[in-house]
Amino acid sequence: MTAQPDLTVNIGALKLRNPVLAASGTFGYGSEYGRFVDLADFGGIVTKTLTPEPWPGNPPPRAAETAAGMLNSIGLQNVGVEAFIRDKMPYLRTVDTALIVNVGGGPVEEFVHVTERLSDCEGIDALEINMSCPNVSGGMDFSTDPRRAAELVSTLRNITGLPLIAKLTPNVTDIGEIARSVEEAGADAISAINTLRGMAVDIRTRRPMLGAVTGGLSGPAIKPVAVAAVYRIASQVSVPVIGIGGIMSGEDAVEFLVAGATAVQVGTATFVEPRAGPSVARTLAEWCAASGVHTVRSLIGSIQIPSPEDAPCHRS
Ligand SMILES: Cc1cc2nc3c(=O)[nH]c(=O)nc-3n(C[C@H](O)[C@H](O)[C@H](O)COP(=O)(O)O)c2cc1C
Repeated sequence: MTAQPDLTVNIGALKLRNPVLAASGTFGYGSEYGRFVDLADFGGIVTKTLTPEPWPGNPPPRAAETAAGMLNSIGLQNVGVEAFIRDKMPYLRTVDTALIVNVGGGPVEEFVHVTERLSDCEGIDALEINMSCPNVSGGMDFSTDPRRAAELVSTLRNITGLPLIAKLTPNVTDIGEIARSVEEAGADAISAINTLRGMAVDIRTRRPMLGAVTGGLSGPAIKPVAVAAVYRIASQVSVPVIGIGGIMSGEDAVEFLVAGATAVQVGTATFVEPRAGPSVARTLAEWCAASGVHTVRSLIGSIQIPSPEDAPCHRS
């Protein structure tokens, strides 16, 4: 019998059973999926972005299907931090998996408020800072400007002892520059990517498909963009990188790990199949076993970039 591969990875001080997490905004507050999947099959789950007050989100329609993914403009609809602590945490404390809570807001003070409230709350393993939502006014400002990105992370660093994961947007010229600034400001890890800004038009009515006109593109269409972002970030920082974007299978997860990710998050795939996350973890384990990979950690950043001398000579 083949030995089971070791799937454990470390995100800073956080030890994960396997490298597959549920992505924020695609897994509610965990309980919604409790009857479809065993949450313990995930390395961890990331909950929907929380703001200080309950937030209704953007006008409908808020989702549209595209050729290889989806557009959404949910706009951070959430129950607010107090209701989360009161109504969602009792269930989440019973779940045997790492709990990462995603924090958002408009001005810095809102991020501070949510972070302070969560830092006092038992049962949370780490915070992911949503510096990158394309669906709220000003939502991306923090991760499109390295100075503002660093200010936000260092402000939160000073008020919490929880590990901080900075979630970045791909809607920038050089994501590596933003990654360096949040690492210097004290981020323990970086997750990438959030959705890409996109738009679709109903040519019959000539109206945008989304009520908010533009939205965020996710799913298989964005995977190559996400892999490139992870590769770039991993070459620029020494903190762990969590890869997100279009992951549907164990092989997709391997691709991210080889490009430099320590863990991955599964988002849109969960809307296609609620068991997508555990299935990615299982097929990742099967791939490792079949490929003679004893520990998943040996895959991280194992990419081989051919030197120019090895490249075939093209004349055009
Ligand atoms: C419907 C929907 C809602 C989302 N809500 C959030 C959110 O609240 N906070 C956040 O940080 N990311 C949010 N995201 C982004 C995802 O966490 C993820 O970064 C992105 O969808 C790319 O991964 P995927 O291609 O696997 O979906 C949302 C994505 C979708 C599709």
